[in-house]
Amino acid sequence: MNHNEIDEPKKILVVDDDQSVRSLIVDALELSGTYNAREVDNGVSAIDFLRDQPCDLVISDHRMPGMSGLDLLNNIKDIKPFLPVIIMTAYPSIDLSVTAMKDGAVDFISKPFKIDDLLFKVDLYLKEQTFHDGKRELAANDTQRLDKKIRTLSAISCFDDIIDKYGGGNENVFHELVSLSLKITSGDYSILTLFDEADNTFYPKIVKMAPGSHLSGLTGDAIIESLEPFFRDVIDSRNPLLIPTSTSSTLCESIMCLPLMIRGKIFGILSLLHTTQKNVFNQNDLTYVRNLVKRASLNIENALLYESLFASIMDTFTSLVHSIHVRDQYTERHSLSVRNFALRIATEIQCSDSDMESLKVAATLHDIGKIAIPDNILLKPGRLTDEEYEIIKTHPVIGEDILKSISLLDTERIIIRHHHERWDGGGYPDGLSGTDIPFLSRILAVADTFDAMTSDRPYRKGLPIPQAISEIQDNAHRQFDPAIVEAFLSVFSR
Ligand SMILES: [Fe+2]
Repeated sequence: MNHNEIDEPKKILVVDDDQSVRSLIVDALELSGTYNAREVDNGVSAIDFLRDQPCDLVISDHRMPGMSGLDLLNNIKDIKPFLPVIIMTAYPSIDLSVTAMKDGAVDFISKPFKIDDLLFKVDLYLKEQTFHDGKRELAANDTQRLDKKIRTLSAISCFDDIIDKYGGGNENVFHELVSLSLKITSGDYSILTLFDEADNTFYPKIVKMAPGSHLSGLTGDAIIESLEPFFRDVIDSRNPLLIPTSTSSTLCESIMCLPLMIRGKIFGILSLLHTTQKNVFNQNDLTYVRNLVKRASLNIENALLYESLFASIMDTFTSLVHSIHVRDQYTERHSLSVRNFALRIATEIQCSDSDMESLKVAATLHDIGKIAIPDNILLKPGRLTDEEYEIIKTHPVIGEDILKSISLLDTERIIIRHHHERWDGGGYPDGLSGTDIPFLSRILAVADTFDAMTSDRPYRKGLPIPQAISEIQDNAHRQFDPAIVEAFLSVFSR
């Protein structure tokens, strides 16, 4: 290889039927100054191109009319077995990514992606490729090591992509971990067991078997009982266990057990089983799964940290609301009813899950600012003077202030600030009108007013429900967003 060849820009072929995606990638590659990018819009043209032209790497979409990305990958392997191929898809799934990896794709990327991530990967695989080219002097085990690294990298990035795409809740992470480990090791069974350190007991969580495997009729408890000696080994040694063949268990021929740890504590064990002598696990399998387990534990740790932080914040604020209750019994019951009404309206409008969560928090805490209103005003039985009313009107801003220090509640504090705005602009604190008022504040306003109107207070009786409903209806366009009133009516006039 002469010097000029080394400096020549690397040639990359981009295959996608979507013109905008192709241009985005080609432009980014060209702009980097290191690559010479070509594009085609289908698999057949890609094969034609590759037969005639030199190429260092292919980036291909999976879903394309005619030839799919995986078909293209298989065709490429026939004509250029060492050419690295990155497969992209807008519809990631474990099946697809594992098939792509097994068929020899170097990576699997889900759309939309960050272009910098793609460039990073392109650079990485071209460097790996340079190794392969300088090859033949690479000892066979070095090549293997490289392949192993690539396969592990792909598995991890696929795991990340799937968790990113479908949300990182613990249940999700557990299920992905069990499925993906089963597929990359081609095991017969993958079992996730939770371990409770306090009572030193194992609990079956997920048992998954590969199609065609047999251990039928065994319950999770029976499997755990049979595997418990291995689990105990893992707990005692705090290390993964790999038994390639002829285990003492009657259940399986080959087994791997890996501890799941958070902050040095074992909270579960992932086990993979081969039930026949045909296949056994080796050190490579253990390495792949070990990497997945590490990644999963990190995800779970983040989720748990977030959940516990969030729970303790909510506890603190809920107890603040409770402390208002000690002074004013109305506020606490009111918070619960407003939350209930607001969620029913939001369900009717088909709000997203994250909006529902925000609304739940904001409705529970919406009057938290009343903590700063003196008793003689907050508890006054009877009409308020103008001055007193001005003081009451400070509670949305005080509420927002109380939540300001907690960045986790950024969305909710804005909703709370604006829960007394009016559609016609006559509300407080900012006199916002129409769609300038945050959407969830508009829902909260209807729920809040409806509950306030129908509640008994020391100085007046609540309105009968039908009358309160028609009051809300009459105030559409004035106090309330007419679209929210419509949703409210379809929930409450049923
Ligand atoms: Fe309020």
